[in-house]
Amino acid sequence: MHITLTPTHGESDAQRIRLITAEQIGHDFEGSLGAAFAKTKGTLVTDPNDAAVLLLGIGDGGVRDAQFSARKLVTALRDLPQDLRIDAGILSSPTSRDASHEPLDSTLDAFKAFVRGLWLGAYQLDLWKGERPVDVLAETKIDIDGVDGGASDRDALAVAVEEARALALGQLAAMHLVDRPANAKRPMDVADYITEFGTRHGFGVEVFESEALEIQGFGGILAVGRASTHPPCLVKLTYGGVSSAHHLGLIGKGVTFDTGGISIKASKNMGFMKSDLGGAAAVLGTFVAAAELSLPVTLTGLIPLAENVIAGNAYLPSDVIRNYGGKTIEITDTDAEGRMLLADALAYLPEVATPDFTIDVATLTGSAVQTFGYECAAAFTHDDEVYRALAAVGDAIGERIWRLPLWEEYEPELKSDVADIKHYHGLPVAGAINAAKFLEYFAADKSRWMHLDIAGVAFGASGFTKDRAATGFGVALLCSYLQTFADVD
Ligand code: BES
Ligand code: ZN
Ligand code: ZN
Repeated sequence: MHITLTPTHGESDAQRIRLITAEQIGHDFEGSLGAAFAKTKGTLVTDPNDAAVLLLGIGDGGVRDAQFSARKLVTALRDLPQDLRIDAGILSSPTSRDASHEPLDSTLDAFKAFVRGLWLGAYQLDLWKGERPVDVLAETKIDIDGVDGGASDRDALAVAVEEARALALGQLAAMHLVDRPANAKRPMDVADYITEFGTRHGFGVEVFESEALEIQGFGGILAVGRASTHPPCLVKLTYGGVSSAHHLGLIGKGVTFDTGGISIKASKNMGFMKSDLGGAAAVLGTFVAAAELSLPVTLTGLIPLAENVIAGNAYLPSDVIRNYGGKTIEITDTDAEGRMLLADALAYLPEVATPDFTIDVATLTGSAVQTFGYECAAAFTHDDEVYRALAAVGDAIGERIWRLPLWEEYEPELKSDVADIKHYHGLPVAGAINAAKFLEYFAADKSRWMHLDIAGVAFGASGFTKDRAATGFGVALLCSYLQTFADVD
C-alpha cells in the first residue's frame, strides 16, 4: 500500500467529496473505522482517481487516539488494491488553514502519533497461519506530498514523518519478538534476532553463550536458565561513539517463557508468559529507532535471556545463588526469576560501560499490574529530574509512567538469615517495590538508575486482535527521551 499525506484542500470542495460506503469498497470498514475516527473528525471520501481519501483534522483525540485511528485505517484498508491518499488538515499552509484548524505546534505530537500508527498498521500477527502472508511492512510506503506551507512547516512535518517511521520500526521489532510463540524464541533464537537487527540498522551486538557465562560467574542468569534444554545467554548491544550528548545504559528482562519454575504458575493463561521479554524487546526497539534516527547519543544495552522451566536440575526455593560480582542471594520463589537476570546485568554493566544514567525495563511483577492496571508503567528512581523528564515525554507520546517509592523503610524485607540478600519477601504486600529494592541493591550507582516495571503495559488488549498482543511499550518512550538530549545540541 502506498500512502501519501497531502495538504487538505478544504471540505468546501464538495464535488470531489463523497462518503465511501461499505458496498462501494466491498469491505466493512465503515463500522470499524467509523468508531475509530469518531475522535479524529475524519471523513472518508473518494476522489476522481478512486484513491481512498481521508480528510483529517488531527488533534482533538490526543496522541493515543491519533495513533489508534491511523493503525485501524491501514489495518482495515491494507488488503485493498487502492492506494491511500490522506488529506490531513495539519498539512495545509498557515495561510490556507482556516480558523478552525489547530496551530501546527499543538497538533504536531498527534500528527506524529498518527503517522506512527500508519506504520503500525502494517503489523502482522498471523505469521503462522497457512501459507506465509505477504510482508505488508515491506510493501508499505508512506510519502509526504508537496506541502504548500512555508519551509519551516514543511521541515517540521518531514522530520515528524521520519521520526514516526523510526519509532514505528523500533516498536515493530519489539512487537514481533513479544508476540512470537515460545517455541520460536528460545534464548539463542532471540540473540540471533537481535543480531540481525544490529546488522541491518548499524549497532553492535555481542552474544555471551552459557559457557562464557559459567566462566565469568553469571550465577543468576545460569540458575534461572539451568532447567531448560535451551541454554541461557547474555546479549550486549552498543550504539554511538564515545563523545555524545548522553550515554544511557539499558537493561531488559528477557525471559523467553516464564512457567514460574518449581514455584509453578497456574496453567490458566500461562501462555501469556511468552511476553515476559517485553523489557528486552523495548531495549532492542530503542536501539533500532535510535540507530534509524542517527541520534547523537551513546547506548550500552544488556539483555539477559533465559527460559524459566522445570527439570530435575531446576533451581529450588532455599537455594543460595552467587550472582555476577559475588553477592549471595537466597531464593524464596523461583517465579521471581526476572530480578535474578537483572541483578547479574546490573552488576556487570560497570565492567563494560560508564553510562550517565541506567534504566532497566522489565515485565517484573503482578503487583505492578494490580497497582496500575494497564495504564502506565511503574517507575522507581531517586532522580527527580530524570523522572520528570521521562514522565513528560511519556505523556506526550502516549506511554505513561508513574512513580512508586524506594524508601529505606522497605529495606528490612530484603534481609536473609543465610545469604547477603533475600530475593523476594514472600509477603502479599508491596511486591513491585520489594522487587525494585532488590534491584537497587545491585545498581552500580543507585542515584543514577531507574527501574521500569512494564508488566501491565507490554502485552494487552490492543483493539486489533482477539487475544492480548504486544504493545511495543517503551520504545517510543525511551527513544523520544533520548531525542531530548539530541535537541539540546
Ligand atoms: N513475569 C512475571 C511478572 C508478570 C506478571 C508479568 C503478570 C506480566 C504479567 C514475574 O516473573 C513473576 O512471576 N512475578 C511474580 C513474583 C512473585 C512470585 C515473587 C508475581 O508478581 O506474581
Ligand atoms: Zn516469574
Ligand atoms: Zn517473569
